Amino acid sequence: MKMLQFENPSIQGEIKVPGDKSISHRSIMFGAISEGVTKVTGFLKGDDCLSTIDCFRKMGVTITEKDDEILIEGRGFKGLKEPREILDTGNSGTTTRLLLGVLAGQPFHSVITGDESIAKRPMNRVTVPLKEMGATIDGRDDGNLTPLSVRGGKLKSFHYTLPVASAQLKSALILAGLQSEEETVIVEPEKTRDHTEKMIRHFGGEIVREGTSIKVRGNQPFKAKDVRVPGDISSAAFFLTAAAITSNSSLILKDVGLNETRTGIIDVLREMDADFSVTLTNDDEEPQGDILVKSSSLKNCEVGGELIPRLIDEIPIIALLATQASGKTVIRDAEELKVKETNRIDAVVEELQKLGADITATGDGMVINGPVRLKGGYADSRGDHRIGMMLAVAALVSEGPVHIENADCISVSYPTFFEDLSLVAK
Ligand code: S3P
Repeated sequence: MKMLQFENPSIQGEIKVPGDKSISHRSIMFGAISEGVTKVTGFLKGDDCLSTIDCFRKMGVTITEKDDEILIEGRGFKGLKEPREILDTGNSGTTTRLLLGVLAGQPFHSVITGDESIAKRPMNRVTVPLKEMGATIDGRDDGNLTPLSVRGGKLKSFHYTLPVASAQLKSALILAGLQSEEETVIVEPEKTRDHTEKMIRHFGGEIVREGTSIKVRGNQPFKAKDVRVPGDISSAAFFLTAAAITSNSSLILKDVGLNETRTGIIDVLREMDADFSVTLTNDDEEPQGDILVKSSSLKNCEVGGELIPRLIDEIPIIALLATQASGKTVIRDAEELKVKETNRIDAVVEELQKLGADITATGDGMVINGPVRLKGGYADSRGDHRIGMMLAVAALVSEGPVHIENADCISVSYPTFFEDLSLVAK
């Protein structure tokens, strides 16, 4: 149990949040399926991305750490080996789903499993289309739940409209499509994060987007190329909020990833009248910049529609932000929150209610009335890293201490979160 208590804190100074989780996972995967050695800088050494490294090592890929760099000795898709052990994806939905896409095209047998949370998350969104492409996959609940066994094979040409806006699903099908003899066409209901597409181009491959459809050819050779991972905007969001909701705050977040498919939180901060500015420091395929954020007088906003995939992981912290904003904030079209690391609609609403927030759940989101001075109390991360960090930031605006059960899970995406918080909370 972690206890946090602050007396009129302000958030000051400068921090560099750890590397982007989505890009870190993909840097290992694309490094592994390329020819040559890929060097990754800024890699997130959180539990989730370490699970990805572990799984690829089990398929014969040599991955070493040198100072702050990760070196991947690529073997190409054709060089991956049948793993002797079960591939353990830990708490990582991204590892599980993207790996299923890789395994679907491999001429061997493998078994994937993860932790208690992974065991509850729906995999049929990925396994059903992968089976249609030609892979043999089975598991609990008719191939919906881990442990899953995969016997990959020759994959067919495939045209598929995604039933949900999910970058994990899109990426799994792209990774399978890259191993097919023919073309794969994927139609997205809404644009989701495009790191996989950017990685393909970075490693010398081709993928075309026309409106909502994405076309990719199989059998493309990928050449190793170094990857620079920007800071994770989903991690930065906790500190953007911390500074905006506390008095006398002024914080600079360095080198934060600003890929436009991920910057919904910036749109929300603008909509809520937050006092912040963004300076672009690198304008390549995965842009990054510094964000200066100050104490803000916040107003309510409406979050829904196409914005949802651009801030899906930030909804827990946006809910906290809304408790400190004047008026009624409505979050809708976010049913996908129910199948994250926890049911994040229930978790956010019930845990924030315990601290004294005026928040209620709806079928596809939540409604928050603010501003409310939180009381503090006992709350539980429920094993979900983003709920844990949201509760820690809530302690900054609580009268009494906040006790957080199961705070260790924060290491999934932000192993140095509490060090960074104590560095900037004055
Ligand atoms: C991710 C996609 C999103 C996001 C997750 C990371 C990715 O999941 O919530 O944290 O790296 O592709 P969905 O694809 O389930 O929306």
